[in-house]
Amino acid sequence: MQYDVIVIGSGPGGYVAAIRSAQLGLKTAIIEKYSVLGGTCLNVGCIPSKALLDSSEHFYNAQHSFAEHGIELENLKANLSQMITRKKGVIEKMNNGIAFLMKKNKITVYNGLGSFVDKNTVNVAKLDGTAEQITGKNIIIATGSKPTVLPFIPVDKKRVITSTEALNLQEIPKHLIVIGAGVIGAELGSVYARLGAKVSFVEFADSMIPTMDKTMGKELQKSIKKLGADFYLSHKVTGVVNNGDDVTVTAKNSKDEDVTITGDYVLVCIGRRPYTDGLNLEAAGLATDQRGKLEVDEHTLQTKVGGIYAIGDVIRGAMLAHKAEEEGVFVAETIAGQKPHINYNLIPGVVYTWPEVASVGQTEEELKAAGRAYKAGSFPFKALGRATASMDTDGLVKVLADKATDEILGVHIIGARAADMIAEAVVAMEYRASAEDISRMSHAHPTYTEAIKEACLAATENRALHA
Ligand code: FAD
Ligand code: NAI
Repeated sequence: MQYDVIVIGSGPGGYVAAIRSAQLGLKTAIIEKYSVLGGTCLNVGCIPSKALLDSSEHFYNAQHSFAEHGIELENLKANLSQMITRKKGVIEKMNNGIAFLMKKNKITVYNGLGSFVDKNTVNVAKLDGTAEQITGKNIIIATGSKPTVLPFIPVDKKRVITSTEALNLQEIPKHLIVIGAGVIGAELGSVYARLGAKVSFVEFADSMIPTMDKTMGKELQKSIKKLGADFYLSHKVTGVVNNGDDVTVTAKNSKDEDVTITGDYVLVCIGRRPYTDGLNLEAAGLATDQRGKLEVDEHTLQTKVGGIYAIGDVIRGAMLAHKAEEEGVFVAETIAGQKPHINYNLIPGVVYTWPEVASVGQTEEELKAAGRAYKAGSFPFKALGRATASMDTDGLVKVLADKATDEILGVHIIGARAADMIAEAVVAMEYRASAEDISRMSHAHPTYTEAIKEACLAATENRALHA
């Protein structure tokens, strides 16, 4: 065999799997159909969205809170094209970073579409028009996902767009209608609302980010409302008509009445689907399930064909970059004969709005549904010295702990820097800490993390000190 490991797809799952395989002494190749490495996350996902979230947040703060801080500006204006240029620079830097890491680890990179010839052979249809067949003892499928589209929503990528186009708009929409108030809707809706667009969210469920703890969605909606956004919750979209310069969305509300909303752009973000197009899975003896996912064995992430593994968005579980990375490391170590472990219950979920939302473990709704006896402790950001100093007082920390043992079962944060704060909860829960354990640990003052300690105190015996 030419290679010990061939990885198809260079997103956070694939490129990390390749690095870990190479570190373990396996001769490794990676195939990427585009000319740049990094996948969805780096090129049209995590990184560009965060770059625009940061730029738009600076603009919004300059407009709304700098004066109170004593910083006076005149003629403030949002230059979207510069924001997009900066975002492109960030991506390029990181594309080069991954290319460097491939070189450093002696991983062979093939730029072209990978498709199976048989279970050990992959054809690479290269970008220069030539083709090459390579063989591997092990193959890792890390081909990721693409936006879900519905047949009655005509996505023309100009006025009716997905997240990919929303990261490259030429103008700030006057009225952006966001179909789906999940993670992408909340993040990219925030970007354009902060830049001055009217944003309307049309969401099937009765809250924003409905898969997270309900308190988070409720609080987030309050914060995003302050940006001037409108919400059409419990509304099912039934049609989208693109008139060229404007677009009309029709939805049915909970009373079964038709509601129409007209804007100049519609962002469709109703989830993502696993992507296996062009892989020629049948040649390897593989097929996807009804939802387009590749099925894998829980203990090895191996598909039903020996030596072929799958990771990341193309398999079950959360569609998150850090989940894909963990699986990349897991499979490389499994191939090398090790016995790695992933604790799926402790993969945090973060929404990079402002305030940020971050969550790990079980939600209150899940605990109720499971009939688990639990106690909850909450602490509001407005009672924190640090939050008052920075004027970031929206939000709260909610800690859920087992009623009898006090073991922490879930931590849900909405507030400034929640994305970074959630790491404390992950560590605590990995070591099976109780709420009292955390409440007895010193947290620097003044920091946002004091809200976690206070919420743990509240969960222990209602002993919060500052509430
Ligand atoms: P991908 O990153 O999708 O990579 C798959 C790669 O495989 C692609 O480069 C593709 O071109 C390549 N490929 C596919 N088929 C072939 C083939 N046949 N041959 C060769 N190459 C092929 N997650 C987070 O954790 N945090 C975030 O902040 C975050 N923000 C996001 C924002 C947006 C707007 C979007 C859309 C997603 C975001 N995500 C975020 C999700 C994250 O991007 C994905 O979970 C992650 O990229 C999945 O990694 P992956 O390696 O499985 O696949
Ligand atoms: P999502 O699953 O987060 O949200 C989709 C929303 O659309 C849901 O709230 C759903 O109820 C709603 N919906 C579905 N069909 C609808 C319809 N017909 N009419 C109205 N509403 C409808 O999916 P999203 O936002 O597209 O993101 C895809 C994935 O990308 C996420 O699941 C997440 O894993 C990943 N992602 C992660 C980010 C992060 O970690 N910060 C950021 C962005 C994306």
